[in-house]
Amino acid sequence: MLRTHNCGELRPAHINTTVTLCGWVSISRDLGGLTFVVIRDRFGITQLRFNMDENKALCEQARKLGREFVIQATGLVEERTAKNLNIPTGEIEIKVSQLTILNTSKTPPFTIEDETDGGDDLRMRYRYLDLRRNIVRKNLELRHNLAKYIRNYLDEAGFLEVETPVLIKSTPEGARDFVVPSRMNPGEFYALPQSPQTFKQILMVAGFDRYFQIVKCFRDEDLRADRQPEFTQIDCELSFIEQEDILNIFEGLVRFLFEKVKGIDILSFPRMTYDEAMEKYGSDKPDIRFGMEFCDLTAQTRNSGFAIFDNAEYVAGIAVPGASEFTRKQVDEYTDYVKRPQIGASGLIYVRWGTDGSIKSSVDKFFSPEQLQTWLQAAGAKQGDMLMVLCGVKTKTQKALNELRLELGNKLGLRPKDTFAPLWVLDFPLLEWDEENARWHAMHHPFTSPKPDDLKLIETDPGAVRANAYDLVINGVEIGGGSIRIFDKALQKRMFSLLGFSDEAAQAQFGFLMNAFEFGAPPHGGIALGFDRLCSMFGGADSIRDFIAFPKNNSGRDMMIDAPSAIDEAQLKELNIALNLKHGTPTN
Ligand code: AMO
Repeated sequence: MLRTHNCGELRPAHINTTVTLCGWVSISRDLGGLTFVVIRDRFGITQLRFNMDENKALCEQARKLGREFVIQATGLVEERTAKNLNIPTGEIEIKVSQLTILNTSKTPPFTIEDETDGGDDLRMRYRYLDLRRNIVRKNLELRHNLAKYIRNYLDEAGFLEVETPVLIKSTPEGARDFVVPSRMNPGEFYALPQSPQTFKQILMVAGFDRYFQIVKCFRDEDLRADRQPEFTQIDCELSFIEQEDILNIFEGLVRFLFEKVKGIDILSFPRMTYDEAMEKYGSDKPDIRFGMEFCDLTAQTRNSGFAIFDNAEYVAGIAVPGASEFTRKQVDEYTDYVKRPQIGASGLIYVRWGTDGSIKSSVDKFFSPEQLQTWLQAAGAKQGDMLMVLCGVKTKTQKALNELRLELGNKLGLRPKDTFAPLWVLDFPLLEWDEENARWHAMHHPFTSPKPDDLKLIETDPGAVRANAYDLVINGVEIGGGSIRIFDKALQKRMFSLLGFSDEAAQAQFGFLMNAFEFGAPPHGGIALGFDRLCSMFGGADSIRDFIAFPKNNSGRDMMIDAPSAIDEAQLKELNIALNLKHGTPTN
C-alpha cells in the first residue's frame, strides 16, 4: 500500500512513530519559517509540518503544492503545540521528511468545504469534487449505513434478496415509462421498471415467501426536491400475511433504523385512516409533529348572511398558537400566500383571540362575538391564538388549508428536523376519478385488493371502495406505500376492466401475471420504501439529491456526463429508429 495510515486515524498514541499518508491538499499555509499543509482523504484530515531550518528543499517543495494536489508524505508523528480538539487528529501533526506528488490538480472551480461558494450547476458538473466535501460524503456514508442495517434487519426476518430485470414491459405505477429500443426486435421497446411490482408478485407465486431488493426504479415524471427520475426503493413482498403483519414488520424496521443510526427510541407509531387524515390535515401525508388540526366550521357558519361562507361547500379553520399578536402585515402575507395560484384560495378570514380575552375578526359585521367564540372553541383555540379560516370547494380548500398549516408550521418553528413523527395512513380509496379522461385510476396500483367488506360496492359506487393499502409517512413525507394484493385471476380481471382495459389489452399487458395466478398464487402483500427519501429524512434534509452520488438536475439531466444526449445516425439506424429532424422526434 502507498500509505501506512489514513488521514483520520492518527492519535497521541502514535507519537514518535514514522508514518506515510496519502491524500489531497486541502489547505496550505506558508508562515515563513514553517509551512503547514492539511491533507484530506475520506477518513479525515491531518496536518503536515515542513520546517525551513531543517529541510529547505522539502519546505520549498511543499510551498508549491496547489489545492487538491494528490500527495504522499512520510514523517514522524509529533505532538502539536497548538492543539485543535475539534478534530480527531487535532492533537498531532506530521513532521514530514519525504514528500511525493502523486498527481497535480487544476484549481477547483469551487471551494471544497462544507460551506462552498459553488452553485448547484457547477457542483453537479464537477460532482467528483463536490463528493470530496465532507457533508456530501457524510450523506453517502449515512446511505451506506442505512442500507447495511436494512439488509441485516430483513435478512434476520427471513427475507431473500432477489434481483429482478431492468429491461421489462411497462408497469403501471402512474408515471410515464422510460423506454429502450430493442435492436433485435425492430419496432419494439423495453420499458425500464417504475417498480419491480409484477416480478415480486411472481416471486410469491414461485414460493419465495419473503423477498426484498434495494433496487433502482425509473419514472418519467416532473421532478421536485423529493423526486428523481431514477431513484431507489427498498422493495418487499411477503406471502401468507395480513396487513397487520406488514405494518408490524416495517414499523419494526423503522424503529430499528432510528435506534441504530440516530439512537432515538420512536415512542409512538399511530395509525390513521385516509379519511381521517384528509379531515384533520387535508393531506394523505400529514406532518403530525405539530397540532393545528382542521376544524370543520361549515355547519356553524351557515345562513349568516355572509355570502362567501353561505355559498361555500366547505368552511374550515385552524387555531394558530400565539398568533393573536400577528401584525396586520403578517396576516396580509399569509393571505397573499393562500391566494397564490398554486395554493388557490380566494382569501383568508381570521379571528383574533387576544391574551386579554378580546375577540376581533375580519367578519365582525356578520358574526357576533358569541358565534366567533363557538368557532374558537370548536377549533381548540386558546386565548392568544388566531383562528385562520378558508372556504370553498371542499377538496381545493382542504389542499389550501394543508399548505397554510405547513407554512405556519415552518414559520413558527414547529417542524424541527431532529424530531421524527411517523405514522401509518390506512384504508386508501381503491380508485380515484380522473376528471380529464373521465375514467377511474387505481389510486395505488391495479394489483391492490379492495377491502372485502367494500367489494359489493365495486359496480355501484366504485369511488367508495376502500383498498387494503397503506402508506408510511414521516414528518409529512410519504416514505413508503404498499398493499395486500389481489391473488385471484377473476378479481384481477374485473379490476382491469374497471380501469378501462379491454380483456385483450389486459391479457396482452398483464397476461403473464394473471396466468401465474392460475398456478397456485398464495395470498400476499408488500410495501416499497423510498430509500433516497429515507436517507434525506435521516440526514435532516429536504432534498434527496445530496443523498444520491450522481443525481439528475430538475430538467432530468446529468450535468457531469451531459446526458441525455443525441446518438449518432448509425446507432439510430441499427435500432430501426428514423429521426424526423424537422421536428426532432423519432419515428419508428
Ligand atoms: P409507490 O409508487 O408508492 O409504490 O413508491 C414507493 C415509494 O417510492 C418513493 N418514490 C420516489 N422516490 C424518489 N423519486 C421518485 N420519483 C419516487 N417515486 C416514488 C416514495 C414512495 O412511497 N410498487 C409499489 C409498492 C408496493 O405496492 O409494494 C410502489 O412502487 O417514497
